[in-house]
Amino acid sequence: MESVQELILESHYTPSSHWIVTSNHGYISYAQEELRRSFGQLKSRMLVPGEMALMELPAGSAEAMERWQQEPPIFGRHIQPVHLAVKRAEGLTSGPAQQLEAMCASWLERLSACTGLQAGGGTRVAVHIRSGGARTEEDKAVREAFLSLIERLGGEAVLAEPDVIVSIVIGEEAIYAGMMTPGEAGSDWPGGAMRFQREEGQISRAKFKLLEAERTFGLDYSAYRHALDVGAAPGGWTSLLLERGVHVTAIDPANMHPSLLGHPRLTYVKRNAADVPVEPNEFDLLVCDMSWSPKATAEMVIRLLDGVIAGGTILVTVKLMHKKPLQTIRDVTAMYAEHAQIIGAKQLFHNRDEITLYMMKS
Ligand SMILES: C[S@@+](CC[C@H](N)C(=O)[O-])C[C@H]1O[C@@H](n2cnc3c(N)ncnc32)[C@H](O)[C@@H]1O
Repeated sequence: MESVQELILESHYTPSSHWIVTSNHGYISYAQEELRRSFGQLKSRMLVPGEMALMELPAGSAEAMERWQQEPPIFGRHIQPVHLAVKRAEGLTSGPAQQLEAMCASWLERLSACTGLQAGGGTRVAVHIRSGGARTEEDKAVREAFLSLIERLGGEAVLAEPDVIVSIVIGEEAIYAGMMTPGEAGSDWPGGAMRFQREEGQISRAKFKLLEAERTFGLDYSAYRHALDVGAAPGGWTSLLLERGVHVTAIDPANMHPSLLGHPRLTYVKRNAADVPVEPNEFDLLVCDMSWSPKATAEMVIRLLDGVIAGGTILVTVKLMHKKPLQTIRDVTAMYAEHAQIIGAKQLFHNRDEITLYMMKS
């Protein structure tokens, strides 16, 4: 225990709670701005430039969590509580393994005392270790110490579907630890970074975006009958919907991947979406991943909504091509809100300079 000591987290508010907030790279200031608007004020310290910060909010944990469950942040991809912070001394992992394990045991004990959650007695426990720099050896040693500790306590170390997550962020100056259920973490992926296996013959990485949207928004694509995919080429999204048994009408002046052509459930309209007429009530799902100005895209999608049944699902990526993403999102959602109910807006892990909007046609 010589190498660590308790760090008293600075407290500027009463009540207050501390969180590690993670965004896609370059978007942490927008995550911070969203939380500042929601909570009035906050204190923030960058842990990983552009993507991870320690934030103190002027609200207790339960109140803060309730607030972003009601009003989920768009750019705060992952928000996890900090229950314990210890100053980080040099050579965290240079001593014998037992020393590190004893240290982790003491953290775990304090985390359990603080949260009422247990890591032993048959509990399925995921250990998430994150660090900013390239300290992979250190991350590995801390993970192994936790895994052997959990095993000794009679818990089951798992990667997916845990009952409890022990989350450790190894910063330059301190180590921040939290213990939570997946519901409280909002994700059982470390930092909300949902990863999928690349498949043999996969048409585009864009497919991951639609897969992540399905999980994030709790959808099931196999429940849809006929989808309109606007800006569909080369066909990653179309291929996923076809795999789920959906009929797809794909619109794009560019070429679809040859492996999709001739699919019995695919209608390919090789045209600019602005020129394609639509029949009413043809589709129960509209997806659009067009690389175009967000407002022009919104105008085009709104016209095509004539083809979607009332209550139909709409998933649209909104490109943040210009500065002021928060303003862009406000303007675009105001346009859509006249025709649809906005159910979710999120910058997914697989979104680059864009967010995904989830809506229901009015
Ligand atoms: C990012 S790609 C879509 C990738 C696709 N979701 C996938 O999974 O493979 C954007 C597509 O939008 C198409 N696009 C741009 N403007 C369009 C328009 N006016 N009408 C139809 N498609 C358009 C482009 O041709 C391009 O193929």
